[in-house]
Amino acid sequence: MGEGIGFGKSILFGEHFVVYGLPALAAGISSKTVAYVSRSKDLGWRLDDRRPEVPGYKAKKRDEQVVSINNVIQAAGIDLSDMGIFIEYEGDLVGASGFGASAASCVSLARALNEEFRLGYDDDKINEIAFEGEKGYHGTPSGIDNTVSTFGGLIWYIRDLEGGPPTFEKMKLEDSIHLTVASTGLTASTTEVVMAVRTMKEEDPKWFDEIASEYHELVHEARDALLRLDIDRVGALMNRNHELLQELTVSCKELDEMVETARNSGAIGSKVTGTGRGGNMISVTPDTKTQKQVSDALEEWGSPFVYNTTFGL
Ligand code: MEV
Repeated sequence: MGEGIGFGKSILFGEHFVVYGLPALAAGISSKTVAYVSRSKDLGWRLDDRRPEVPGYKAKKRDEQVVSINNVIQAAGIDLSDMGIFIEYEGDLVGASGFGASAASCVSLARALNEEFRLGYDDDKINEIAFEGEKGYHGTPSGIDNTVSTFGGLIWYIRDLEGGPPTFEKMKLEDSIHLTVASTGLTASTTEVVMAVRTMKEEDPKWFDEIASEYHELVHEARDALLRLDIDRVGALMNRNHELLQELTVSCKELDEMVETARNSGAIGSKVTGTGRGGNMISVTPDTKTQKQVSDALEEWGSPFVYNTTFGL
């Protein structure tokens, strides 16, 4: 049996903007999906998906998941016309929009196939295969989710708009930063939300360019502030990034309420993370005590899943 893992992720700066070639910053989280692949007598593939989920997540993603698994198998160079495989997913990464659960499943599957069929692929190739899988979830993925899911850590990422390999850099900070990730409990369709932003961008390019140009300055400043461990500045920039995402219409009532709740209980910065219109939000806090205050407040608000972690080291 082959086994593989894929990390969950949290986008700190740059969801949606990253699709259009602007830089983004994202961090791996320690929760992961584990995939197992074993050979079976039946032709094709069968799946037992035991990942924990917020209610409805797996059902909503089921059709896309089928396309995604087919893409991964094909990109890995496995031909199932005269053999079969049994795929199992488990692990502690919750299936919920915003954690990178779809990318983590693609990465873990690519790794499990690599092990079972002794393909000898390195992490760059695993990342490439997982990117094909991500296309099952939405047609124009930036590739940031599968990259963070493959490599973990803190990543500065720029998509190549010509379809070439992305530019990404693993960053290390001198200390870790406290991060809280919380789910609205609402499953968002990345395809639909990315498409909605694209349509608005095409209808009013000037409107989009003004927001994107502010974001471009903001993300470079965020990178510098992170490297200086200037948490107050990082927080302020996250708050502004949230406003820019509100202008792109990817926040929603629940996300805005959660962001307010987190800020009122001590978060220095708080914003949407990932697709938006549901999914998750994140908060940065100065210490463990404040992090606990924020996560308690978000649980009290009604978030079905709140996760405290750190990033940067
Ligand atoms: C989804 O986690 C992040 C988006 O920017 C889409 C992408 O980067 O492919 C919304």
